[in-house]
Amino acid sequence: MRAAVLTGGGDCPGLNAVIRAVVRTVHNAGGETLGLQEGWRGAVEGTYEVLDPMKTDEILPRGGTILGSSRTNPYKDPELVGKVIETVDKLGIDALIAIGGDDTLGVASRLYEDHKLPTIGCPKTIDNDLSSTDFTFGFDTCLNTVMDAVDRLRTTAESHRRVMVVECMGRHAGWITCFAGIAVAADAILVPEIEADLDEICTRLKRRKSEGKHYGIVMVSEGARIKGEMVTQSGEIDEFGHVQLGGIGKHVANVIEDQTGIETREVTLGHLQRGGSPSAYDRVLGTRLGIHAGRLALSGDFGKMVALRGLQIVAVPLAEAVGQMRTLYPEFMAEAEEFLR
Ligand code: F6P
Repeated sequence: MRAAVLTGGGDCPGLNAVIRAVVRTVHNAGGETLGLQEGWRGAVEGTYEVLDPMKTDEILPRGGTILGSSRTNPYKDPELVGKVIETVDKLGIDALIAIGGDDTLGVASRLYEDHKLPTIGCPKTIDNDLSSTDFTFGFDTCLNTVMDAVDRLRTTAESHRRVMVVECMGRHAGWITCFAGIAVAADAILVPEIEADLDEICTRLKRRKSEGKHYGIVMVSEGARIKGEMVTQSGEIDEFGHVQLGGIGKHVANVIEDQTGIETREVTLGHLQRGGSPSAYDRVLGTRLGIHAGRLALSGDFGKMVALRGLQIVAVPLAEAVGQMRTLYPEFMAEAEEFLR
């Protein structure tokens, strides 16, 4: 049995844990695994390397992906889809495991539905915005990175009696901002799912100052909206049609400084949130998902995505898992709001 694995979309810590587990699981059953390079680009161009347990044994603690990643979308052009089919035939791939977010897995799902290609999905993203799985790997490491950064920002904010506005990734879902906001005891949390009331936040910050708290931490999602509008800087669009987000933190910081008179600084954490070595949780989750993806490949159970449900790893139809972004559940913000008064 010959499996192939690819990693697509924005990278995140834990990808190498999945690759290593797929390779080991397939090898243990007498099969071999090819690593397609740079996401769907490798499937289009037929670029790959042969992976084995020796080659992948040391990669568990490494961030990023040894295979490289890209936002290549074969469905941009029917000719590219034809090339993916050709690669699968030419390389004799019996199972194609795509590790990715909604875009990468959306391609895997369509290839299965339209052409019966033997695809299997494995969910990843720091954004935690995939439906059908409780958590995506990468999210936990990202939260720890944000928490560590804000703990550092807090000491300087306190010394200078400033408000620090921290812009977090997460696209149109507030998982990172809300969870990190709870973990750092933020004074305000702005997520895309809830219309931000900047006037109320400014009043809160002023009141807290008058009560003796001389600094503030405000967490803002890159996709949060002010008066229904997103704030973006670049306007760049990727192959899947997503606009590049970022810039709202600066806007929020300006409003806070103007309205409260408190000196305010803004920090955009950006790609720091995707880097570094995976946490223990993400290593274990990535490993478990990889083992189960490998098992699906060995049993020929295609068109499925491995997912975490409670404590179990289960297989769900890829078609059900993609296309519907999972936004932050309101109960998490309701819990956070106990401290946001
Ligand atoms: O989906 C992961 C993510 O990090 C988002 O949170 C962010 O908006 C986007 O990718 C950034 O993409 P890029 O690396 O292409 O700038």
